[in-house]
Amino acid sequence: MDRPRHFLDIASQNKDFLRAALEEAKRRKDARGRASKGAVDADAPLQGKVLALIFSKPSTRTRISFEVGMRQLGGSTLMLTGAEMQLGRGESLADTARVLSRYVDAVMIRTFSHQDAEDLAEYSDIPVINGLTDLSHPCQVMADIMTFEEKRGDIRGKKVAWVGDGNNVCASWIEAAAQFDFELVVACPPSLRPKERFLTYAADRQAKVSLTDNPREAAVGADIVTTDTWVSMGDHDTMRRHTLLKPYRVTSDLMALATPDALFMHCLPAHREEEVTTDVFDGPQSVVFDEAENRLHAQKGILLQCLA
Ligand code: CP
Ligand code: NVA
Repeated sequence: MDRPRHFLDIASQNKDFLRAALEEAKRRKDARGRASKGAVDADAPLQGKVLALIFSKPSTRTRISFEVGMRQLGGSTLMLTGAEMQLGRGESLADTARVLSRYVDAVMIRTFSHQDAEDLAEYSDIPVINGLTDLSHPCQVMADIMTFEEKRGDIRGKKVAWVGDGNNVCASWIEAAAQFDFELVVACPPSLRPKERFLTYAADRQAKVSLTDNPREAAVGADIVTTDTWVSMGDHDTMRRHTLLKPYRVTSDLMALATPDALFMHCLPAHREEEVTTDVFDGPQSVVFDEAENRLHAQKGILLQCLA
């Protein structure tokens, strides 16, 4: 039996998969026009298919965009939480994967340990999609690239400034820099650098990824300035993070160093006046709600690539 096509990370896909997913996303978004959110796409390509959603952490965007996206593709979803499954009482991921493979057509998982998503995929006969782990958030960055390209064209050769915690979303941006050929400068405190494995991945591919502790250096000439919450789900050192990350707040002064038509991005949920000032977050360069919308479209592209 052929192995299923999982979507665990941007690095583990080939470029054709990533591009095809984004093209499909754009095609479907354009074709829907102003159709009501619950209307099924004319071809209903996933009719009869069921996607299980496993959440061990809270979510607004990921949950709703996968639920609505599956509905628009003609399929349906099953919302599960780790705690209410036998998983929460110690049933192994391997056995859970084998059981789910008998009932549903694909699984999305949001969890703490990335290894859990890998284990689920290893023992699963159906595609597994990463809806955020401690290490990465690939669906988010696919939606972000879609958002940039619909507003500014091809992301190839552009400069992206990541300012803040070198976290899971940052890691997916690093992988994307290698796969989509753009420059990424990560500005973060030395103790909150991205994990070495992501920097090694980028270096092995001669990707234009660099690190600095100076947010101004990252922002100069950037086409995108992006950041994220200072305290991710599962982080416990809140006070320390606030102290370390305060110099990395995205302000209008920082945005002024970027290109005049630079976009401000944030995966949300945001904390105004912490990682970003209110004037930037609500200002004309901010595309944060377009990013949120594009989660829906980008994930429809990913679902079709995995399930087609
Ligand atoms: N950006 C994002 O993944 O949001 P949720 O946590 O609301 O799903
Ligand atoms: N880095 C954040 C992203 C939330 C969508 C977290 O992991 O909590």
